[in-house]
Amino acid sequence: MTRHRDIDSPQHLDGVRAAVTGGTSGLGLALVGELQRRGARVAFVARTSGRVEAVARAHPGTYGIVGDLARKEDIHRIALQIVGNLGGLEVLVNGASSLGPTPLALLGDTECEDFELALATNVLGPFRLTKALLGSLTASAREGGGSVVLNISSDAAVNAYPQWGAYGASKAALHHMSRIWNEELAAEGVRFLSLDPGDMDTPMHALAVPDADRATLKRPEIAARELGDAIAAALLGSLRTPSMRRAASPNPSAEAARLAIGSQASPVSTAVGETRR
Ligand SMILES: NC(=O)c1ccc[n+]([C@@H]2O[C@H](COP(=O)([O-])OP(=O)(O)OC[C@H]3O[C@@H](n4cnc5c(N)ncnc54)[C@H](OP(=O)(O)O)[C@@H]3O)[C@@H](O)[C@H]2O)c1
Repeated sequence: MTRHRDIDSPQHLDGVRAAVTGGTSGLGLALVGELQRRGARVAFVARTSGRVEAVARAHPGTYGIVGDLARKEDIHRIALQIVGNLGGLEVLVNGASSLGPTPLALLGDTECEDFELALATNVLGPFRLTKALLGSLTASAREGGGSVVLNISSDAAVNAYPQWGAYGASKAALHHMSRIWNEELAAEGVRFLSLDPGDMDTPMHALAVPDADRATLKRPEIAARELGDAIAAALLGSLRTPSMRRAASPNPSAEAARLAIGSQASPVSTAVGETRR
């Protein structure tokens, strides 16, 4: 079935089916609200059942899923619940994340288990979940709805910040993996983004930098709005033929330019799609 979006509001995501990992706090929570506000049907994932229930109650119509992205055993159940509840998938946001050791530590003082947890949560989890959902994502792209995976990156993926070793190494791997996925699935019409939301006032930031002046930090709702624009633009770009793009937007080239994903970019937040052949 070809999905036609509201042509007067191309930034809207009417009828789009979206899943957000880490949807009960900080950026993920803001994204659940932002995507729903734009008309998307949203499923979200986190480990703490009480928080999942509370967020689902606060956002009627969303589907809360309890699961741990770092646990291999949880991935297929999570993927089945996402597709089972939404009936398919156009947008996956891999946002759940681990800092590794807290308080942050020099690599030489980092326990192997903490390094492993950062890799399991920030790299293997997104890899496994994306792989488990590929059938649904490529089906959406094939059927004309477009398909986008957004992996949440960080400037720690490119800057060698002391004490951010486990987190930085995992985010660098996630970023590079996003670029490779994007190359490999370009022909299928699935686009991958790797975007840095900037320093935000969230529980994770407070855990990492307890002395930060919160007034200088970005509100997660602002970052969620920027990412919502990036998702909408990428979804439009992922439509495979000019006629599909025309059906979704009255002026695709102007729209794509207005929503240029790189426009609010720090180096790592440049859309990986820019290098697409
Ligand atoms: N905050 C910043 O300044 C900043 C800057 C750059 C990039 N980022 C990135 O932005 C994203 C969101 O960060 P945030 O600051 O909003 O974090 P946050 O407030 O700590 O929220 C993290 C969310 O992820 C969930 N989560 C954590 N581990 C999980 C796991 N193994 N399985 C499933 N869910 C899990 C948490 O719920 P449970 O604990 O209940 O599972 C929570 O919903 C992350 O990818 C982070 O690396 C943040």
